[in-house]
Amino acid sequence: MRISVIGCGYLGTVHAACMATLGHEVIGYDVDTHKVAALSRGEAPFFEPGLPELLQELAPTNRLTFTDSVADVQGADVHFVCVGTPQKAGENAADMTYVDTAMADLLKVVEPGQVVAGKSTVPVGTAERLAAQLAAEVPEATLVWNPEFLREGFAVKDTLHPDRLVYGLPEGAAGESAKELLNTVYAAPLAEGTPLVETDYATAQLVKVAANSFLATKISFINAMAELCESTGADVVRLADAIGHDERIGRRFLNAGLGFGGGCLPKDIRAFMARAGELGVDQALTFLREVDSINLRRRVRMVDLAREVCGGSIVGRRIAILGAAFKPNSDDVRDSPALSVAAQMQLQGADVVVTDPQAIPNARRKWPDLKFADSAEKAVEGAELVLLLTEWPEYVGLDPAALSTLVSGRRMLDGRNALDPAAWRAAGWTYRALGRP
Ligand code: UDX
Repeated sequence: MRISVIGCGYLGTVHAACMATLGHEVIGYDVDTHKVAALSRGEAPFFEPGLPELLQELAPTNRLTFTDSVADVQGADVHFVCVGTPQKAGENAADMTYVDTAMADLLKVVEPGQVVAGKSTVPVGTAERLAAQLAAEVPEATLVWNPEFLREGFAVKDTLHPDRLVYGLPEGAAGESAKELLNTVYAAPLAEGTPLVETDYATAQLVKVAANSFLATKISFINAMAELCESTGADVVRLADAIGHDERIGRRFLNAGLGFGGGCLPKDIRAFMARAGELGVDQALTFLREVDSINLRRRVRMVDLAREVCGGSIVGRRIAILGAAFKPNSDDVRDSPALSVAAQMQLQGADVVVTDPQAIPNARRKWPDLKFADSAEKAVEGAELVLLLTEWPEYVGLDPAALSTLVSGRRMLDGRNALDPAAWRAAGWTYRALGRP
């Protein structure tokens, strides 16, 4: 099949590459000419494990091309809309500019019989609005809503082996033939054995934000328990292990620590609250306000804990921060808890040096006033306090004895409950973590 992908960010680029590996002829469109040029050279414009290899494998096949001219996507059987919906400045609501521009662009090229498949995370009601626009211009084309659940760091695997596929379809013959078309796109081996949920537009849009809200709630729940643990001397890691053995609860996404960040969970729960307000059902989601507050409180607690272990003040203290990305295996620094803690400590007078295996260029662009080092060893040199804020495997595997020779004070704050407290204490370090005695 011929497929177009509108928007080549984390979602669009991975989707385009994965669809091409399934054998389709794919064209990715983006307004960013630098990104299009890099992708056309077979280079991934961001760090995502497995993506560079995929792009290289595809290069000789000519099945994957990129363009900055929307006219080039003409003739595709399915157009996937994969543009971002960031948080509006100073508001909770999602900024729909990119979705609206993508639709306006598509209306110039879509032909009868083709399908427009929305993948972006949008406020419920968007699909209905876009379907009406499409119906007014090209009545024989069909809009479907087909949300994407990939995680950064596992994006290729999640796209090729999704937990489920969700199709939000219009009623009647148009919906039936659009479904057939999507089934052909996701043909075996991808769709084989993958649960398929067929539903209406509204449900399909809600599935995505409901899933992300649930995940955010799970993380904030365990972080609220961490607050209780801190005031009672209990251990949140043991607590999570114990409740996680109950299959109804499950241990995944119960890792207490600095909380969630990134380009999805924080802005999605805020946009969901804003949309509920517009719909007059804001009470249904007031709990998400608490989820957001618990999450942000962890960052404040981290800075307080640093002050505590430094004897009451961090002014002038040399502090090393391991991790800048919002999570390991990503170079994404959007709403990064690690960088927010680093900036707060610097603001309070500490001499902070941040390191990360992949995210320094992005971090430097966003936080030009922070100091960066290109290795953990350089970052901790002379530090009186070390904070592990993103649990990259190379940081989790650091040898406390070797690090002792570089620092000026053996104090480790584990913001992700990722280290072995006994090993660090045995090497003479003061080890503290969120939610643990
Ligand atoms: C998320 C959803 O998981 C994915 O399904 C959706 O498509 C996009 O949003 P992503 O933002 O890539 O994916 O990262 P995820 O792995 O969900 O982690 C989000 C944040 O939660 C990270 O900052 C991570 O460090 C934090 N987290 C995760 C915890 O603090 N504790 C946990 O137990 C799990």
